[in-house]
Amino acid sequence: MSQTEPKIEIKALRKSFGSLEVLKDINFKVEQGGVVSLIGPSGSGKSTLLRCINLLVVPDDGAIRVGETRFAFGQGHNLPGTKALAAFRARTGMVFQNFNLFPHMTVLQNVMEAPVQVRKLPKPVARDLAMAQLEKVGLADRAQQMPSTLSGGQKQRVAIARALAMEPEVMLFDEATSALDPELVGEVLATIQKLAADGMTMVIVTHEIAFARDVADRVVFMRDGYVIEDGPARETIDNPREEATRAFLSHFYKGAAAR
Ligand SMILES: Nc1ncnc2c1ncn2[C@@H]1O[C@H](COP(=O)(O)OP(=O)(O)O)[C@@H](O)[C@H]1O
Ligand SMILES: [Mg+2]
Repeated sequence: MSQTEPKIEIKALRKSFGSLEVLKDINFKVEQGGVVSLIGPSGSGKSTLLRCINLLVVPDDGAIRVGETRFAFGQGHNLPGTKALAAFRARTGMVFQNFNLFPHMTVLQNVMEAPVQVRKLPKPVARDLAMAQLEKVGLADRAQQMPSTLSGGQKQRVAIARALAMEPEVMLFDEATSALDPELVGEVLATIQKLAADGMTMVIVTHEIAFARDVADRVVFMRDGYVIEDGPARETIDNPREEATRAFLSHFYKGAAAR
């Protein structure tokens, strides 16, 4: 793969649930080390798109490439097998609104679990890897604690460490701070920002528009299953080209409404 080839490429992606068409011809790319913030009203298809990128949801049509692995969907294409799906998913880290840590395992065991069970790493190797990821999210000193003793922000940082322990090529965040009390949002955003600075390729669904403006290279605005606008983060948030983007931002972000 050449240096300049995008890390993620989505082409003509379509997905329906029954008669409801949720994604309608989605096209976008994320450069290697790029950070794209996906914004849009509730129900616009953001979560479905993220789930398609790691094939938790199988698209009806179109193509997805992450790194060197490409899948095409629709007429004339076979659905990927279970093994191919699992291998693909393992290279795509996903962080959800609700952290879903295993309550009966320590923080360290939570982070080691997938490397041991899925990647079949020897325990000492998985432990070192997990500790390195906990270090990265600033929670190495909590390794032996149970999740129930942590704050929501700390739990979400453990969930990020757990995703990183699979050494994914890309990270996907679906409203990772939406379930947190306001005072805990900052520490999670700071962790994501650090990953961006380390060069991780990321797609971030967020309502934290000021954060998107600061951290993302690009903003993609979705509505009703379409990408309405896709542009440089600052420019797009400060001065959207599309009226629909402007209207959406005016609910969330004072900067755009004032212009
Ligand atoms: N598994 C599913 N089955 C049926 N409908 C779904 C499913 N997942 C999402 N939807 C519908 O698809 C639309 C887009 O949802 P979603 O991708 O969650 O949007 P967003 O994340 O932007 O709020 C919504 O109308 C939602 O109800
Ligand atoms: Mg969603």
